[in-house]
Amino acid sequence: MTMRTHYCGELRSTDVDSQVTVCGWVDTRRVHSEHLAFIDLRDHTGIVQCVVDEKLDLRSEYVVSITGTVRTRFEGKSNEKLETGEIEVGDCEVQVLSIAEPPPFPMHERTEVDENIRLRHRYVDLRKPRMQKNLRIRAKVNSAIRSAMERQGFVEVETPMLIASTPEGARDFVVPSRLHPTNFYALPQSPQIFKQLCMVGGIDRYYQIARCLRDEDLRADRQFEFMQLDMEASFATQEDIINFVSEAIKDSTEAITGSRPGDIPHMTWNDAMERYGSDKPDTRFGMELIDLTGIFTDTEANVFKVDCVKGILYKGGSDHLARNAIDALTEKCQSWGAKGLAWFRVGDQGSLEGALTKFMSDDEVEGICTALSTGPGDMVLIIADKRRTVNHVLGLLRLEIGRPPVNTGELKYLWITEFPLFESIGDHGRPIPAHHPFTMPHTADMEALDSAQGEEYLGIRSQAYDLVLNGWELGSGSVRIHTPEIQSKIFEILGINEVESKEKFGFLLDAFRYGAPPHAGFAFGIDRLTAILSGEENIREVIAFPKTQSGADPLTNAPTQLENNHLEELGLRLIPPST
Ligand code: AMO
Repeated sequence: MTMRTHYCGELRSTDVDSQVTVCGWVDTRRVHSEHLAFIDLRDHTGIVQCVVDEKLDLRSEYVVSITGTVRTRFEGKSNEKLETGEIEVGDCEVQVLSIAEPPPFPMHERTEVDENIRLRHRYVDLRKPRMQKNLRIRAKVNSAIRSAMERQGFVEVETPMLIASTPEGARDFVVPSRLHPTNFYALPQSPQIFKQLCMVGGIDRYYQIARCLRDEDLRADRQFEFMQLDMEASFATQEDIINFVSEAIKDSTEAITGSRPGDIPHMTWNDAMERYGSDKPDTRFGMELIDLTGIFTDTEANVFKVDCVKGILYKGGSDHLARNAIDALTEKCQSWGAKGLAWFRVGDQGSLEGALTKFMSDDEVEGICTALSTGPGDMVLIIADKRRTVNHVLGLLRLEIGRPPVNTGELKYLWITEFPLFESIGDHGRPIPAHHPFTMPHTADMEALDSAQGEEYLGIRSQAYDLVLNGWELGSGSVRIHTPEIQSKIFEILGINEVESKEKFGFLLDAFRYGAPPHAGFAFGIDRLTAILSGEENIREVIAFPKTQSGADPLTNAPTQLENNHLEELGLRLIPPST
């Protein structure tokens, strides 16, 4: 004997005259007549209307089992908004399985509920169609990823949660050790080191749907705990990795949207920076950065006597940007590092109008119009500065003006390749790695690496690559260094001496002495992918029990204080926070 014969949302006209038992929560109750009431009964598949005795005490969110006969609704009474809208369950026998207090917030989606209240009662919030849909999408994404990886010969290996620090760059969460007082485990920021050890261990193709923990400031696309599809392959090139991961991405997208994305385009990091001013370009809209430097080689206008001049075209923007809006944008550009924002409206006759035109030659004006293909009513926005600053600021300005919400429009996947090996030069004058220190330099830049000095290091490319979706970084990976010679060279450049490298990565370097295959890998964020595929802007909406923006869990009250005896057992004494 099972408790139910059907789910609420699956009953149709074809079930008319069948006797059914459905179970779920009372969504709404409406009195129909002196004797009868309508109950909308809800489970995760939807809602079905049941006609019950008016005298029954059935309140919102009571858990009930209803047995009755499916019948066609009276003429004119069907509800087109419901999939079950043509039928109802009549002659009902009702069994109350659990009574319920009134829900802490309205159960319909029309009211925006404060997030703290939603999370405090997440078990009720999860009953809503939005969360039901999102968590089921998430499960499908996970399942599609697993099948894709297994089909391609990858083996799932679980790596430990209590480890020594890994070099991902964020802060570690740490766990005090009872058996080794004064010592701490770190929770993994990623399985990076272990997956590389798996390669030395001959696993050949590893994957894991891995929980990672990073103590960093939370944002729409960041939680302390998040999930990665983490993978690594031996005797594999960058191209192999890109193909393996693309397969998993295409499969999971198809599982949710029903259509398979085509080939994912590639763009070098340098092109991305020059064209979009970002290493995670949102290619759902144009507004590309156009280089105008050549137009101003002999300019009289002081603002344009600089290293680099670039502009973007805001089509039809003249009507949208009043003077105060331009002032606000100028302030933003200054806060992003520019000296100012040069702007022009394109007049009815196609001529440029703006305070700076009086310092510009006709050729310069003409040059801008041609380069940006301007038309009447458009707006031209220009930044002139050092190339890095120009790209950075225009990239942000482009997003500010043109970017649609992350969850709208097409899904624009994009591979970014040839990331720089170093992201900046530190105070100590040494370069700082852009990824982790095991990233293989670009083959064509090996010689340049030997002779580079100072800022020249920033031009050295690596074999690191990212996957981007609608302007969000979905994942990163690289070909790894597997020979001690190249590794020592990189450590030397980074200023990591032998003692430090032994202390930090000794076990990995030791492992490499015992026969390391060439290997490469990747990891992408499953929360981010699922959020975009679910049409959500915040990854919290696709996580069953997330933390709030401040890193708290209003449901369990984590983080909580520890009892004194617990602290003592761990050999810990608290220092009160300084005020
Ligand atoms: P990386 O640090 O770039 O690479 O992380 C890979 C992807 O994980 C996701 N991600 C996050 N998602 C939610 N909340 C966070 N706090 C968070 N941090 C990261 C992002 C990101 O692109 N070991 C390397 C991969 C490799 O080289 O193989 C790594 O972890 O989607």
